[in-house]
Amino acid sequence: MKLKQLETLLGDLQQFTTPKVFYSVELEQYPTGPHIASRLLYTAENSFDDISNKVVADFGCGCGTLGAAAALLGAKQVIGIDIDPQSLEIASMNAEDLELDIDFVQCDISNLGWRGQIVDTVVMNPPFGTRKKGIDMDFLFVALKVASQAVYSLHKTSTRDYIKRTSLRDLNASSAEVLCELRFDVPQLYKFHKKKEVDIAVDLWRFVPKRSQVKDN
Ligand SMILES: C[S@@+](CC[C@H](N)C(=O)[O-])C[C@H]1O[C@@H](n2cnc3c(N)ncnc32)[C@H](O)[C@@H]1O
Repeated sequence: MKLKQLETLLGDLQQFTTPKVFYSVELEQYPTGPHIASRLLYTAENSFDDISNKVVADFGCGCGTLGAAAALLGAKQVIGIDIDPQSLEIASMNAEDLELDIDFVQCDISNLGWRGQIVDTVVMNPPFGTRKKGIDMDFLFVALKVASQAVYSLHKTSTRDYIKRTSLRDLNASSAEVLCELRFDVPQLYKFHKKKEVDIAVDLWRFVPKRSQVKDN
């Protein structure tokens, strides 16, 4: 599939509609736009061979954009996980509209009971940790435990040094590379945002997990 075609299909997906004021703010529910989402997945596939025929998990999938992109690029299996049941309903409708077979799980990522490196690749745009301090690193911690091949994740550029140091030292990453720096438009979803859109500098990371010592049978 061509990049432009992928971007167009993702642009037609439903996103978080009426913000559920308190709940949404706490969960940092802003969608990854089709431009960034298509490039993230396209790079993962075409530069690193991390998507097609792979088992891909979309952590904090929201309305399912990243997982849908993985499925469109030929992932063997896609699992979308989010704590919010209403987002998962939208994600499920989006998958149905595109005739994609995606499994959805409602779960707090911090409580995900997966053992070992049971997926190949994790893709995610985790909460930045603006509302719940440290949630971005909780996502990364779990992703680097369950992925065997790669983790793609978006994080605020202002946290770059911290992310690099911590992922390599404490979070099971054998490499941590910023693929590009992006401008991320967080739309005015909430009352406390005075401007229509808040423009945030964000890094697209690719992490490679250390190989698990446990041998597959
Ligand atoms: C920035 S949004 C990204 C949504 C979607 N992945 C996308 O790219 O459009 C973060 C998502 O993480 C979910 N989330 C927040 N905290 C979570 C948690 N502890 N466990 C699972 N999902 C969580 C939110 O409900 C939201 O859908």
